[in-house]
Amino acid sequence: MLTNEESANTDGDPPSSKAASLEFRNVSKLYAGQKEPAVNDLSFTVEAGEVCVLVGPSGSGKTTAMRLINRMIPLSGGDILLGGDSVLKHDPTELRREIGYVIQQIGLFPHYSIADNIATVPKLLGWDKARTKERVRELLALIGLDPDEIGPRYPSQLSGGQRQRVGVARALAADPPLMLMDEPFGAIDPINRERLQDEFLNLQAQVKKTVVFVTHDIDEAIKMGDKIAILREGGRLAQFDSPERILTDPHDDFVAQFVGADRTLKRLGLSTLEDIDLVSPNGLRPGPETVPLSTSVRDALSQVLSLNGKPLTVVDQNDHVVGLVTLELLGSVVGSEDHHQS
Ligand SMILES: Nc1ncnc2c1ncn2[C@@H]1O[C@H](COP(=O)(O)OP(=O)(O)O)[C@@H](O)[C@H]1O
Ligand SMILES: [Mg+2]
Repeated sequence: MLTNEESANTDGDPPSSKAASLEFRNVSKLYAGQKEPAVNDLSFTVEAGEVCVLVGPSGSGKTTAMRLINRMIPLSGGDILLGGDSVLKHDPTELRREIGYVIQQIGLFPHYSIADNIATVPKLLGWDKARTKERVRELLALIGLDPDEIGPRYPSQLSGGQRQRVGVARALAADPPLMLMDEPFGAIDPINRERLQDEFLNLQAQVKKTVVFVTHDIDEAIKMGDKIAILREGGRLAQFDSPERILTDPHDDFVAQFVGADRTLKRLGLSTLEDIDLVSPNGLRPGPETVPLSTSVRDALSQVLSLNGKPLTVVDQNDHVVGLVTLELLGSVVGSEDHHQS
């Protein structure tokens, strides 16, 4: 059985208390009949409770790397350690039950109710009825769906976004130490996709799982990742770093190109008005345009620009004015970011 890094996994633990570190150690995968490896000497470590995004162009080995973790496919070389323990020591079937897995086409069972779908793994693990029922209710509530209303429904009676959330709940059901998510929001329209991303980040703040999240979208990677592993053709690691570091200091031209020429703007999306020194409101009349401190610097810039350069009044959670953000101020922030990058 997998061990928990923070505390022993006993039945008395609070729900969702498990998370394990994950280490790729010189991992390679050569598919039978192929000349070139799909994954080539991959090494990186994800701390317990972190979201690591695997990002890269199509064919760079993201899905392959993910499937090696729960042994859906065998390793050709190297090792993967979960909670410090080689996955090779675990029975593959057991491993797949213990690791939550979310894919794009969700794969909910159409003839099972939503509640029964979420209960799949707990049932396989032999949980008793009362405990399983309680866990299903807890998870439905956690993903913002009413257990009494949604639990008895069938997948076809839910929206695409709701089904995707149920897929996440099902993967979380047995309180796994690790969640694997392969382009989980790839098939969702942009507006709902952003909502699901935000919801997942809120959920993750509560459950604090170790998560490996695959996407080909660098913006999604920057938004979702505590760490980002950028893969390049041939399944090689181009850079492993925090989103901040990837944007500030791309290792090479491949990473710089992949991240995009607008990386200054992207970086501004990572910081909020809380992170910069605002102009004192003293003596200045606050304009009618008010934004919360939690606004990203990037959004503040686009608002100021759309107001033809008029400053924004910034308020805290209690609606107290804490300062102004002016075009000059944003200009100096952008300038220092550019300086940072060169
Ligand atoms: N079952 C397989 N047999 C042979 N080659 C495969 C198999 N699955 C994937 N590949 C090859 O391995 C490489 C990486 O694929 P994949 O991991 O799916 O990349 P990604 O998820 O980044 O798009 C590709 O060149 C792909 O064609
Ligand atoms: Mg893939």
